[in-house]
Amino acid sequence: MALDSFNREIDYLRISVTDRCSLRCIYCKPGDRASGFPENQILSAEEIVRVVRLARSFGVWKVRLTGGEPLLRPEILDIVRSIKALDIRDLSLTTNGLRLEELAAPLKEAGLDRVNVSLDSLSARRYREITGGGRLEQVLSGIGEAQRIGLQPVKINMVPIRGINDDEILSFARLTQEDAPEPYHIRFIELMPSEGRLGWQKNRCLTTREVMERLESLGPLMKLPFRGKGPSRNYRLKGAKGIIGFISAVSHSFCYCCNRIRLDAIGRLKPCLFSKTRIDIASPMRQGADDEEVLRLLALAVESKPEGNYLGHPETASLPSMSRIGG
Ligand code: 5AD
Ligand code: SF4
Repeated sequence: MALDSFNREIDYLRISVTDRCSLRCIYCKPGDRASGFPENQILSAEEIVRVVRLARSFGVWKVRLTGGEPLLRPEILDIVRSIKALDIRDLSLTTNGLRLEELAAPLKEAGLDRVNVSLDSLSARRYREITGGGRLEQVLSGIGEAQRIGLQPVKINMVPIRGINDDEILSFARLTQEDAPEPYHIRFIELMPSEGRLGWQKNRCLTTREVMERLESLGPLMKLPFRGKGPSRNYRLKGAKGIIGFISAVSHSFCYCCNRIRLDAIGRLKPCLFSKTRIDIASPMRQGADDEEVLRLLALAVESKPEGNYLGHPETASLPSMSRIGG
């Protein structure tokens, strides 16, 4: 078991497998061939699997693959299969859903447990605008297929942005009241400062409190028991089958129960989403570091986890894009 300096148990590794993306969401600046990480620096499938094997040996049993868009990685099925074979009990992936319709079944077969899908609008026109060209229909088919194939629970990440899509909060929440074969799990994520077309204006961000106030018209929100880990606080609308989660990255601190470290696409460990500390493990691995040495670097990342994020702090006024650090 890995404990950090603040006695938090670190059992969760988030891995960005690519910084490339097929979309250009307004709050995000994904890499492309011109601005992204050089191809030869991206961790190979073998390197990713090696890091997971070592992390597993010190108590990580939960892994999430992120991007950019992880389903753009040609070897994604091999990566999933090899990681699952390491006895990772909870293996999940965050995707924009565009390739999910074709990949849900093979991903499930390879051992993936569940998916989170980013979806910020239910209007085709607006979805296209927010994502810089994405086709809503394709994502909805992907979500449907993931539900059908049993990549459960399929969670939908929605980032409400004032003046852009905040008029859709109720529509998203109502999905949880639908009598769907698989109840919807919607998560409202507070917009965090980051690079992207939108730029950063604080008033664009709707706090969890504000979203909750808007949901009042749908009836009482009932709090579900907190499992003691992770940033999401979950609720259910009275009588609804689905779940509504809130990730209050900006208005509340959930750092006291943080359980994760991150690995970016070029093999740098990040102790915290918001810290500037990075520990390069790709170079040592490529220079022949043995397992013990790599484990030492993983332990260092755990030890250097800060107590909290400093979202209010000037140094963290803007985050690098999620596509670089994996959301
Ligand atoms: N603020 C909040 N959420 C963001 N995401 C990406 N950028 C931001 C941001 N600036 C979300 C995406 C995706 C998840 C990985 O992070 O919508 O669902
Ligand atoms: Fe791609 Fe996700 Fe960034 Fe949107 S938020 S551009 S889906 S990486």
